[in-house]
Amino acid sequence: MRTRSDITNSKVVEHFTARTDKYDDSSKWCTDLTMLAKVFSHLAPSAESVVLDVACGTGLVSKTFQGKVRKLVGVDLTEAMFNKGKVFTDGLVHSSAECLPFKNDAFDLAIERQGIQFMDAAAAVSEMVRATRPNGKICLIQLCAYGEEDQDEYFEILRLRNPARKNFFLREDLATLLKDAGCAEVEVIDYISEENVDRWSDHGAIRDERRAGIRDVYRHASPGFNKYHAVRLEENGTIVDRMLFGIAVGTVSS
Ligand SMILES: C[S@@+](CC[C@H](N)C(=O)[O-])C[C@H]1O[C@@H](n2cnc3c(N)ncnc32)[C@H](O)[C@@H]1O
Repeated sequence: MRTRSDITNSKVVEHFTARTDKYDDSSKWCTDLTMLAKVFSHLAPSAESVVLDVACGTGLVSKTFQGKVRKLVGVDLTEAMFNKGKVFTDGLVHSSAECLPFKNDAFDLAIERQGIQFMDAAAAVSEMVRATRPNGKICLIQLCAYGEEDQDEYFEILRLRNPARKNFFLREDLATLLKDAGCAEVEVIDYISEENVDRWSDHGAIRDERRAGIRDVYRHASPGFNKYHAVRLEENGTIVDRMLFGIAVGTVSS
């Protein structure tokens, strides 16, 4: 995992407040029902499950669980984001995920999608584990570099796209975070999302120079990067990237 130390929570809140209106449409993956169905069926919560959605944002993950489990609680730091997500939860808490205001063992399942890249990831995952009962499940869903050959360029693209991003992951980092926090039976599943890079970078909170910088990295991408991302430069100028999500699941040790 690579980490930047200059990211503060107020920078994160400022970034997502600026993005709230466009957020749900700012990537294909945001509303990708196939991805969410895959996660749901893999976690297989029961109708009695009590579920925590960490960094719930506008509630796109919560929506998948709402009505299918006993209770779904969301947590987020950015008021504008969670005000939009409210309708998809049975309870919403304005808090940092690094210090969750819940008792030990309160949940059967804790999930986060694209949240821990803005946090002290080890602290946040430890909190998810603490708040989840023994034998409960923890799920982390994160954009990852494929490996050594693409990570420098991909991390630069992710940094340009989101100035508030603190952490950059490989799949194995997600597994390590879960194991270090006290999970067993950890597995990481791949999910590929084909993203139109212009749509993905047009989220309303970065200047055009950064978007141009992203296009530049793609245009000059190395063979190692292209081997995995299979970047398509279409005739109309659209750049399409095969982005990798790691879906990491662990069981809280008893
Ligand atoms: C990329 S969005 C993901 C939203 C949602 N999980 C989804 O998949 O659509 C990241 C969210 O993380 C939230 N966030 C960032 N740092 C946080 C922290 N320390 N504690 C709680 N939420 C945080 C932001 O406010 C934002 O809503």
